[in-house]
Amino acid sequence: KQQISKEVMAQTKFFKDFPKKGINFMDLFSITTKPALFRKVIDALKTLIEVEVGRPGEAFNYLVGLEARGFVLGPILAMEYGLPFTAIRKKGKLPGDTIVEEYKLEYGSDACEIQKEVLDQSSRVLILDDLLATGGTLCAAMNLIQKCDGAQVVASVVVFDIPALKGRDKLTKACHALISLD
Ligand code: PRP
Ligand code: MG
Repeated sequence: KQQISKEVMAQTKFFKDFPKKGINFMDLFSITTKPALFRKVIDALKTLIEVEVGRPGEAFNYLVGLEARGFVLGPILAMEYGLPFTAIRKKGKLPGDTIVEEYKLEYGSDACEIQKEVLDQSSRVLILDDLLATGGTLCAAMNLIQKCDGAQVVASVVVFDIPALKGRDKLTKACHALISLD
């Protein structure tokens, strides 16, 4: 974990005051543009998941990615695990019947949604996103999934967290981060 943290921190671009003053924006695409680094991050996430969450297919059987950067990580892991993936999107982007959850984020407020028919009582979900900041986004995602026909959230996994923002205090389930930005 320390080794990957060093490498990623050395090669990831951070943009000060984007998209608003006071936000230090971590650019996931400065990782995906470097294939060897991206591979290492995916492998490190798999190790983190095995150690902290458990075996794919046993501890969890469904991956859900959060718009927009959870869509980069989630499907890759889903393909490697042979597990289903679905998306939680910002409101108004998904066709068909959906379930909606309102939430506040690091800058502004929003609502997210998921398609109604995708999860059921057999779904034990691992959530993927790039970053845990204030926890508003992940909190909403966890609440949203709990509204889905008996589906259960097992845990969430992110590349980065910002412990100083105490996002975990909002969450009902564990969030495991590869790299902490202190
Ligand atoms: C960013 C980031 C996380 C979220 C974390 O997404 O990708 O999803 O904020 O912040 P929080 O813990 O304070 O909620 P953003 O809402 O900016 O949208 P994007 O992923 O679609 O760019
Ligand atoms: Mg996001």
